[in-house]
Amino acid sequence: MTTIGLVGLGYWGPNLARNFDELAELRWLCDLDPDQRERFAPRYPHARVTGDFDELLNDPELEAVVIATPAVTHYELAKRALEAGKHVLVEKPPAMNAAEAEDLVSTAEASGRVLLPGHLLLYHPAVRAMKALMDAGELGEVLCVYSNRQNLGKIRADENALWSLGVHDLSVILHLLDEEPSETWAHGNSFLTPGVEDIVFCYLRFPSGKIAHMHLSWLDPHKMRRLTVVGKEKMVVFDDMELERKVTIYEKGPWQPTHTYGEWQTRTGDISSPKIPSDEPLRLECRHFLDLVAGEGDPLRAAQDGLAVVRVLEQLQASLVAAPA
Ligand SMILES: NC(=O)c1ccc[n+]([C@@H]2O[C@H](COP(=O)([O-])OP(=O)(O)OC[C@H]3O[C@@H](n4cnc5c(N)ncnc54)[C@H](O)[C@@H]3O)[C@@H](O)[C@H]2O)c1
Repeated sequence: MTTIGLVGLGYWGPNLARNFDELAELRWLCDLDPDQRERFAPRYPHARVTGDFDELLNDPELEAVVIATPAVTHYELAKRALEAGKHVLVEKPPAMNAAEAEDLVSTAEASGRVLLPGHLLLYHPAVRAMKALMDAGELGEVLCVYSNRQNLGKIRADENALWSLGVHDLSVILHLLDEEPSETWAHGNSFLTPGVEDIVFCYLRFPSGKIAHMHLSWLDPHKMRRLTVVGKEKMVVFDDMELERKVTIYEKGPWQPTHTYGEWQTRTGDISSPKIPSDEPLRLECRHFLDLVAGEGDPLRAAQDGLAVVRVLEQLQASLVAAPA
């Protein structure tokens, strides 16, 4: 079984600990905070517990490091782990700028190790179902994708809504459209913590002409986790707030009947919801990591996709900062 060292036992790390304890050998738990170490040590008595990351790197029996620390620490920890010959699963975003993300990809490539950024939504069965519909041409020509990721809270002071929330939607939008935007634009404002935008609107335009939009906010009355894809033949919505109808397909679209001599009309048909498996996305992500470590699949594809996400985040951030206040 693959040996795993988990770094970061805050809010998200314990979910990774639970999964890797069941799927692999959880060999190390590491956190700078002694309270967190004390809290989790009894739950995983077979794991060694430390506050010193170097102890993990110096363990020749440790094959892989999983990083769930704050985003600003990802690059340095991931880089050191790859250089020590460990495979790395790093929470999103893998780095805070494209140059560092690129450096991680080349370090992984040079060391022949796996680098997997934790873009959880890519493992969501609903996203997989949408991608399958799009790839099969079910929606016709895809015109537009837009996402809504809004709620009241969790208010962050260290990362803005673009990096904290937008990273999820962006990973999905790039995955679904399979191209990188040629034009990016972001507007927003920081109302609570100076320099940390709470509300951000992003616009992306792709070389194919497709367009995308993201509404990101933790100051909103609606709790929305929704992604809409508008195709010429059908339209599809992924609503993660729904318990059962996660994906809804609308047979709606524009059409030009011959008798209208070029005038556009609209067409409406059935509305349906396919059954979406209830597999836990994080479990699928952890499995994918272990498969890659075992030599199955392209070890660099996900790292390159993660780099593309950081590249676009960086462009959007530059546009956000450049926008007049
Ligand atoms: N995929 C998802 O849906 C999802 C959800 C939540 C968080 N996350 C990501 O997980 C990461 C952690 O988020 P969180 O909300 O758990 O943060 P958190 O602040 O609750 O926890 C971070 C933990 O890391 C520890 N830490 C910090 N620096 C360290 C270091 N150098 N060495 C060892 N331990 C260190 C802290 O003591 C803390 O316990 C972030 O990158 C976040 O974006 C992902």
